[in-house]
Amino acid sequence: MNAKTLSPAAHQSTNPLIHIESLTADEIVTVLDTARAFKAVGERAIKKVPALRGKTVINLFVEPSTRTRISFELCEQRLSADIINFTAEASSLKKGETLKDTARNLEALNADFIVIRHSASGAPHFLSRVLNSSVINAGDGAHEHPTQALLDAFTIRERKGRIRGLKVTILGDILYSRVARSDIWALTKLGAEVTLCGPSTLVPRTFEKMGCRVTHNVDDAIRNADIINLLRIQHERQRKSMFPSLNEYSNLFGLNAARLARTKPDALIMHPGPINRGVEIDSDIADCSRSVILEQVTNGLAVRMAVLFLVNGGRGPHEVAAA
Ligand code: CP
Repeated sequence: MNAKTLSPAAHQSTNPLIHIESLTADEIVTVLDTARAFKAVGERAIKKVPALRGKTVINLFVEPSTRTRISFELCEQRLSADIINFTAEASSLKKGETLKDTARNLEALNADFIVIRHSASGAPHFLSRVLNSSVINAGDGAHEHPTQALLDAFTIRERKGRIRGLKVTILGDILYSRVARSDIWALTKLGAEVTLCGPSTLVPRTFEKMGCRVTHNVDDAIRNADIINLLRIQHERQRKSMFPSLNEYSNLFGLNAARLARTKPDALIMHPGPINRGVEIDSDIADCSRSVILEQVTNGLAVRMAVLFLVNGGRGPHEVAAA
């Protein structure tokens, strides 16, 4: 990775990963190449490497998660780190302690890395300014979800052999989606042509400023797509109703068999999860041979191993064999 972006700030012992927006295309490619090396490690009989032996990682999940939390936990075990899993519901956050005080207490236990998920956009950036530990963003509000974008890019590159020139459609609730923002940054930096589609209330034209095409016509959005990445409705972040009903949303924007029949036969179906079967995606399509939804989950492990390895000072895939 580029030394400038990821070199430690003066007060930090190691480097953060807060957002894709600040990464260069070369840095993203370094993560993907390193993840490919770690995927090969995951196919060995002995899947564990000592790269983070003696390091402590605290998983500070203040918002629910299945995939990201478990993926980080497993990848930290595979890197031989010591791990603490923080449970917000059983913590002193419930007694009024601030996030800053909680995090500083965790750091006082000699945490080298804090992996944080939080409902507030900017929470990881805030912690990276007040802590010496290296902060990794596992999803903050509607802002970014960097490791999801990296695993999405990894999956696309692995399946299609390239990213540059591919037509990627992101279909669903873009406005409230951190995955959408991180995917847009990553995929446009890597040369994909990104189209956004969904109801006009959830896909405002302001996203064109990020270098995307915006359309509210689903058939237009998916007809020539190489990748169709579906997003669920982010009810937890919507403060008012953005469309009349889930049934109407599903009829107008859901991916069903009739719509799938009008796509390219080799178009891949992606979804970061959790999926809402029968809303943004018909159940049969979620499980069909063109769906790579579970491959994304598998690839997340190698990608997150690569992120922790690089944030810890690793320089690229050539060092993984010796890790
Ligand atoms: N894709 C994703 O972030 O899923 P979780 O919320 O289960 O971590």
